[in-house]
Amino acid sequence: MNRYKKVRGMHDLLPYETEKWQSVERTLMDVARLYGYKEIRVPVIEERALFERSIGSSTDIIAKEIYSFKDRKGRDLALRPEGTASVVRAFLESEMPYARKITKLYYYGQMFRYDRPQKGRYRQFYQFGTELFGGADPFFDGEVIEMLNAMVKNLNLPGYFFSINTLGCPQCKIRYTGIIREWMSGRRNKLCNDCQIRLETAPLRILDCKNTECREITRYAPDIRETLCEECKRHFGQVEEYLRKADIPYRVQPNLVRGLDYYTRTIFEMFAGDDENAVAAGGRYDSLVSDLGGPNIPAIGFAIGMERLLSLIKDKTKKTFNFVYCICIGRQAKIKGIEIARSLRDAGIITEIDYEERGLKSQMKEANRSGARWCIILGEQELEKNEIIIRDMVTGKQENVAYGNYLEIGKELINAEKP
Ligand code: HAM
Repeated sequence: MNRYKKVRGMHDLLPYETEKWQSVERTLMDVARLYGYKEIRVPVIEERALFERSIGSSTDIIAKEIYSFKDRKGRDLALRPEGTASVVRAFLESEMPYARKITKLYYYGQMFRYDRPQKGRYRQFYQFGTELFGGADPFFDGEVIEMLNAMVKNLNLPGYFFSINTLGCPQCKIRYTGIIREWMSGRRNKLCNDCQIRLETAPLRILDCKNTECREITRYAPDIRETLCEECKRHFGQVEEYLRKADIPYRVQPNLVRGLDYYTRTIFEMFAGDDENAVAAGGRYDSLVSDLGGPNIPAIGFAIGMERLLSLIKDKTKKTFNFVYCICIGRQAKIKGIEIARSLRDAGIITEIDYEERGLKSQMKEANRSGARWCIILGEQELEKNEIIIRDMVTGKQENVAYGNYLEIGKELINAEKP
């Protein structure tokens, strides 16, 4: 019979990976909480129109990649390709816009895009994201980037840096789009086919095209910073000042434009190692809340691509310090072993016990494979002397301990080992 296989672009996270993921997730959430963020959980399915309106109909995400479908009642729905639109929708449906001036939210979960699967690119992938509502000051841009910096610093991500740019306020963005459209029109014949279409639908995206000839042309394109209004210039200058003071590794990249339409002013991406794909990306979106029917509330956020982040972090998993494997030889020993396992678990110590009646050698092998840090051995001799053996699985040293003391001694050993 044919075995089922995972769908193209999907991936499983197996137990040896999930431990590393959980530890990274904890770090990200801990740092977000340090900055005053609270978790929000939003659905995976939304109205397709929410994404069209937020991300923009002419973006690749909406035009080519969105998983959309009609439900049994004929509603146009979609699997979320990102989290920002859903978080804004949930924010607006709640009391939050009126409860506090600043609202800080973080979220975590699967996103779906019908992308071409390749290294670092999946059709289902996880994002850890944060969104801040109500802060217009450049201080917030700085703090949001600083928080992302703190997250990756805590994770010891090697060789990372930020690319930043500004798209200006809505007026500056419209003006600059016009300038680029006109400038690129004069070079239309040299642009790739996709960019010739972008010239009509989204001229700024030409600046971001990966085609070598388009890249060569865009090198000489007008820089947005020369066309900004005074307020936008000041804003970007203050963001840079914050980043310099906070010692954050960044460079201004004039052709950074981002692939979602909702951005205004500061935008950024974070890269690490020699990976061409951004590990995280985000920016300000001061008009989205009002575009979706809410009050005029500025906002800024980012999302980290978890698969990309995890692929760059070295696995430091070592044996779990509070993991005990209990080996029992013979029926009587097993009865006692079950008692031991129960009280160790009650004390919060991870305990495994061999339920099959196997010899010492094969149980020892299994204990080794399990990754246990400690082993308790209980055989006939130990039963007679009312003792157990506690074995250190790293050093191989073992000692006999009176049965009545095992819990205390076990806890002592484990606590001495705690990182
Ligand atoms: P984005 O740039 O589309 O922005 O995605 C953010 C991150 O998600 C990327 O930098 C990448 O690490 C990861 N990512 C995107 N597509 C894939 C894929 N197909 N496979 C694996 N990883 C992927 C957003 O989604 C915005 N919502 C970010 C944001 C939040 N802006 C403001 N707030």
